Amino acid sequence: MHELIARQFRLDGKVALVTGGSKGLGKAMARALAAAGADLVITARHRETLERTAEEIRSETGRKVSVIVADLSRRDESKRLAAEATERAGRVDILINNAGTNVPQPIHEITDETWDEIVELNLSSAMALSRALAPQMMERRWGRIVHVSSIMGFVSAPGRDVYSATKSALLGLTRAMAIDLGPYGITVNCIAPGPFLTDLPMSLLSKEQQEQFARRTALGRWGRPDELMGTVLLLASEAGAYITGTAIVVDGGWLAK
Ligand SMILES: NC(=O)c1ccc[n+]([C@@H]2O[C@H](COP(=O)([O-])OP(=O)(O)OC[C@H]3O[C@@H](n4cnc5c(N)ncnc54)[C@H](OP(=O)(O)O)[C@@H]3O)[C@@H](O)[C@H]2O)c1
Repeated sequence: MHELIARQFRLDGKVALVTGGSKGLGKAMARALAAAGADLVITARHRETLERTAEEIRSETGRKVSVIVADLSRRDESKRLAAEATERAGRVDILINNAGTNVPQPIHEITDETWDEIVELNLSSAMALSRALAPQMMERRWGRIVHVSSIMGFVSAPGRDVYSATKSALLGLTRAMAIDLGPYGITVNCIAPGPFLTDLPMSLLSKEQQEQFARRTALGRWGRPDELMGTVLLLASEAGAYITGTAIVVDGGWLAK
């Protein structure tokens, strides 16, 4: 690749915090950021998986990778994570709000506990981490914030009430945050993935539903987590410096059909 273009995607000297960075889409995005030169802080609830992933990324890229265990369905944990990540790595320049989950319940069966937990994890933790980390990015007049939404933020499916509510809300939060933070050189965007082969959809969908999802894409197949690498690098680097307040849908053409 010509040096001029390669340089645009480099992240040397930057630190990225990736929530849900232990596996699935978060792990793939964390690997991409480290491969481009960023040091990392990755976080999730289970230490063993985090440590394994951190070691893999360290040996693959030679970057520093710190691990912090946190349950982001609790507000105090999001606050602690922001403080601890900054202390451990010295700074956070790139925030990837990826941790999320889906507990399908139709509207007449939603429990308060599920609603509150999913809203906190999928939506409020993205606000709490952005609120805590934006001031240091504002001071340095450079920052990148990426929220992970979903095609279920644009459309929905049976029982996806709380999931779609949170994933749509991230699109609105992205627009407002981009306006707030633009004057400080900080971009804020969403990635909206379609069907990607990770534990999350696999644990929720029957074999038949999995095949239906694949057929519905224009490409006729599920996405591989590493197919998000290019998108996250674009949004996290100088290459995407003029992209803000928007969503990039990475869905193999699912929404187009
Ligand atoms: N896969 C898809 O097809 C797809 C499509 C659209 C959007 N997405 C979105 O992409 C994001 C990542 O999903 P994925 O498919 O990669 O799922 P995944 O493989 O299940 O990974 C989820 C990650 O989030 C962490 N996590 C879960 N609950 C957490 C909590 N309460 N506190 C802190 N961390 C937590 C998990 O680690 P621990 O379990 O150790 O906490 C793991 O690292 C989610 O926001 C999801 O909604 C996925």
